[in-house]
Amino acid sequence: MTRATHVLAVLALGMPLLVWGVSTGSPVAAAPQAPANHPEMPDGPGKDITIATCTKCHSITNITGQHKDKDGWTSTITKMVGYGATGSDEDFEAILTYVTKNYGLDTPATPPAGTPAPPADKPAPK
Ligand code: HEC
Repeated sequence: MTRATHVLAVLALGMPLLVWGVSTGSPVAAAPQAPANHPEMPDGPGKDITIATCTKCHSITNITGQHKDKDGWTSTITKMVGYGATGSDEDFEAILTYVTKNYGLDTPATPPAGTPAPPADKPAPK
């Protein structure tokens, strides 16, 4: 009797926890959260914190599909903070620097891995 009551109590407690755990997953159910190294994104300072901070609510493609100048990114990040994005000032500064450098107006969308740097401004040999 006591044993059965105990089992029932565990079940009664366990079920809502289970349901809660499942329903508090990603708000955007589609993209898996874990394999977050994003090799398509250029390496550099700020990459990791950008991924960590900016994929909490949506896919990183919101960022990697865009090109903005520094002012544009500043206002986007300010808007995201308004939505509830959290981080330290240093975090947001690093994110701003990273996205402005890699997703600025004159940056190609996704440079293929191993692409050499653009040639210096010497005329090409004829
Ligand atoms: C608290 C949730 C949240 C976090 C964290 C967040 N975003 Fe967003 N983001 C949203 C929502 C909601 C939208 C869609 C609404 C919209 O377009 O304004 C969005 C849309 C966007 C868009 C597309 C719309 C636009 O204004 O260009 C970009 C770019 C973007 N986010 C960038 C970022 C960056 C960069 C970060 C990291 C600093 C970030 N987001 C973190 C909630 C968030």
